[in-house]
Amino acid sequence: MEQKAQDARLDEALEQSFPASDPVAINVPTANSTVKSLFAADSTVKEDTSMNKYKVGYLVGSLASTSINRRLANALVRIAPEALEFEEIPIRDLPLYSSDYDADFPPEARAFKDAISRSHAILFVTPEYNRSIPGALKNAIDWGSRPWGKNSFARKPSAVIGTSPGSIGTAVAQQNLRSVLSFLNAPQMNSPEAYITFTTDLITIDGEVTNPSTEEFLRSYIEAFHDFIAKVLTVLPHDVS
Ligand code: FNR
Repeated sequence: MEQKAQDARLDEALEQSFPASDPVAINVPTANSTVKSLFAADSTVKEDTSMNKYKVGYLVGSLASTSINRRLANALVRIAPEALEFEEIPIRDLPLYSSDYDADFPPEARAFKDAISRSHAILFVTPEYNRSIPGALKNAIDWGSRPWGKNSFARKPSAVIGTSPGSIGTAVAQQNLRSVLSFLNAPQMNSPEAYITFTTDLITIDGEVTNPSTEEFLRSYIEAFHDFIAKVLTVLPHDVS
């Protein structure tokens, strides 16, 4: 077939899939009007979500009193837009998970799941241990995922970040964590990624970032997370309790 004719047929097929006269994609869930505007061709009708307020629960993967990842978490909380309200969800006191608990979770595990439930989104700030995530963090995630059918992470917008003195800054641990979150059906912010190589005093205990370019990067990262939460919750709205 001649190239021109092929192009015309392709145009026709595309036209039928997404008619130009109707900028709203067919079969998109229309739980609220914002969904429509996300798909509208005219960008001027998009809803401005930049001021939407969200509660972010964050997990620090380290139990160390001198944790550099806690410093990183403190920095993100300091730098974040006001529209994000943070609550640390502690993992330290959780017993080791066993399915024996499924019929009756202990108070620490109930509190942990409740804290996830009242968060719009979850931020993971984790070290890398032996090219994976620390056992304490994996244990916490296992608690959150159970009992079967009550996975607290399902549909929760999530983001991962971490720091280590190594040059790849927790990249391998983060990939491991991403695969766990995929299985748990937690929508993840894919980009930007954030692998922070920690150098002496890069971030103070109170979360002050001493390197301006790192601070700028962390600001753009956490602003991107705000945007991501807004997008996910527009398409997958859920109440927090
Ligand atoms: C580490 N560390 C480390 N670092 C890294 O970049 N890749 C790795 O695989 C590991 N593995 C590892 C295993 C164990 C058991 C420990 C204790 C440490 C070093 C690690 O990045 C460093 O100790 C950080 O300071 C840990 O983060 P927190 O606990 O200070 O937040």
